[in-house]
Amino acid sequence: MKLAILSRNGKLYSTRRLVEAARARGHSARVLDPLRCYMRIAEGQFEMHYKGREIDGYHAVIPRVGASITRYGTAVVRQFELMGTFTPNGSDAILRARDKLRCHQMLAADGIGMPVTVFGDNPDDTQDLLSMLGPPPHVIKLNEGTQGAGVLLAEKLSASRGVIEALRGLYADFLVQEFIAEAKGADLRCFVVGGRVIAAMRRQAPKGDFRSNLHRGGIARPVRPSEAEQEVAARAAEVVGLGVAGVDLIRSARGPLVLEVNASPGLEGIEQATGVDVAGAIVEYIEARVREGG
Ligand SMILES: Nc1ncnc2c1ncn2[C@@H]1O[C@H](COP(=O)(O)OP(=O)(O)OP(=O)(O)O)[C@@H](O)[C@H]1O
Ligand SMILES: [Mg+2]
Repeated sequence: MKLAILSRNGKLYSTRRLVEAARARGHSARVLDPLRCYMRIAEGQFEMHYKGREIDGYHAVIPRVGASITRYGTAVVRQFELMGTFTPNGSDAILRARDKLRCHQMLAADGIGMPVTVFGDNPDDTQDLLSMLGPPPHVIKLNEGTQGAGVLLAEKLSASRGVIEALRGLYADFLVQEFIAEAKGADLRCFVVGGRVIAAMRRQAPKGDFRSNLHRGGIARPVRPSEAEQEVAARAAEVVGLGVAGVDLIRSARGPLVLEVNASPGLEGIEQATGVDVAGAIVEYIEARVREGG
């Protein structure tokens, strides 16, 4: 099989591991910088070049497209799809995963549990918006935030209002959620490949924080999610349309709640915490799908 990995940086752990896993299974694997792929679009004809040469004959492409280049990156993935290349994560699914509000709406429509979430546009509506959510504490999340940086806890209604006013003043995009206190600062990262959870880790926030992000000092341990948790994670990936996804869950009194569905989940944290060959599992899934003809 001829495989391409779309990634801006071939030295990144995840990219390296995917190349390694593909080659170990006898495939050819090449890292392509999505920003160096350029395209010709004509009636029923789709062509792509890379640094002066035609890109052709790839059986599969693994997108590792960062959030900052979502638009161009997904256009490149779409071009591959139009050229008949298999991808575990299609361009539309990546776009759905990147839009948090849309993602929340789609998951909720499917009956998947999640923290109750509100969002609005006009400052005049803040008071009623918060009353739709219920009493504090509230979790306020910036849409552009990642690795826990844009997530904060407001314990009192006056704090919620104050933070929201400040964010509106900065024209920031955000959503507000009920705080799931019983999660006790832990979440579960379920790594889903082809509709199955193949590895999972529990991340625990450092003392005094409720955010379990590893970049904020969270500690990861391997965990065996319950049947219900595995089902919710697999279903969330399916609803968004991702063959490979990192689904973040928190444990609540009313069952597992989905926080996020990630279309380019990192391999380093999960492989190190669990010892599972996640890259190998991704390549094997792609092999099977390419053999079946997509
Ligand atoms: N509603 C909530 N109740 C309790 N804890 C929460 C809630 N939302 C988030 N957390 C905690 O805060 C952490 C960070 O939140 P979240 O994953 O939503 O943001 P992020 O990591 O900054 O963004 P992203 O995951 O989209 O990159 C979660 O891993 C979880 O531990
Ligand atoms: Mg997160």
